Amino acid sequence: MKIEAKELTVLAGRTSILDDIQLSLNPGEFIGILGPSGSGKSTLLTALSGRRKYNKGEVLYDGEPLEGRPGETIGFVPQDDNLHTALKTGRLLSYSARLQMPGKTKQQISKLIDLTLRSVGLEDRKKTVVKKLSGGQRKRVSIAQELLLSPKALFLDEPTSGLDPELEKSVMKLCARLAKEGRLVVMTTHILDSISLFDRLMFLVAGKTAFFGTPDEAMAFFKVEDFHHIYPLLARPEASRYAEKYKTSLIYRKYFKGG
Ligand SMILES: Nc1ncnc2c1ncn2[C@@H]1O[C@H](COP(=O)(O)OP(=O)(O)O)[C@@H](O)[C@H]1O
Ligand SMILES: [Mg+2]
Repeated sequence: MKIEAKELTVLAGRTSILDDIQLSLNPGEFIGILGPSGSGKSTLLTALSGRRKYNKGEVLYDGEPLEGRPGETIGFVPQDDNLHTALKTGRLLSYSARLQMPGKTKQQISKLIDLTLRSVGLEDRKKTVVKKLSGGQRKRVSIAQELLLSPKALFLDEPTSGLDPELEKSVMKLCARLAKEGRLVVMTTHILDSISLFDRLMFLVAGKTAFFGTPDEAMAFFKVEDFHHIYPLLARPEASRYAEKYKTSLIYRKYFKGG
């Protein structure tokens, strides 16, 4: 699914939480939304996925507003995944599937669960009680739950926070693969270790786009040799200058002005 945001603005009282955001995201892309805490990442995720109202601008899904696309499913994995941890993994997913797809037969559901467990790498955990899973495996259960309805776009809010580096990398790799299979996958994160897996990065500063482009373009734009050096730049009081620099950059023209 292609998702475009035009002049997207979200206000809280008189202050803008998101200010004039332009984005163009394509099927099969793995998108990272990064930025300091409070910069508007979660707000952007909920607005783009149709879970939050905005004050100005528009979001289009394959060229249409969401209201024009009844039945369209967009998956959303929240930061705190509210799972019933006393259930076995397979049982949890089958409850979820039966609720979402009451028309399906027992065999259809069971086939769907096996397929979904395989696609998130949990085929050997079907009979394991969720609370006995690792943090990374539990995140995979949340992702599996969202995949049941075959969404064309999947949004994840900080799915790797709190995971150790190995699990973080494996969840990142899983999401990159889910995108390669043809879905649009959009994730917020503040962990920079696997950043080169993203096709596109967006950096937010105080609700404004400080950058959107490939990881290599990001290093050139911020003039750094290591992604870890970008955050200190964004933490400076004058960081909002990047938003202005970005809007007049060749990279912005490349992605949004057709040249
Ligand atoms: N409902 C709301 N009302 C007022 N302010 C909000 C609301 N939701 C978020 N904010 C503020 O908007 C800013 C962005 O929040 P958020 O999107 O959660 O940032 P992030 O996910 O990058 O940490 C923060 O300053 C936050 O305090
Ligand atoms: Mg957040």
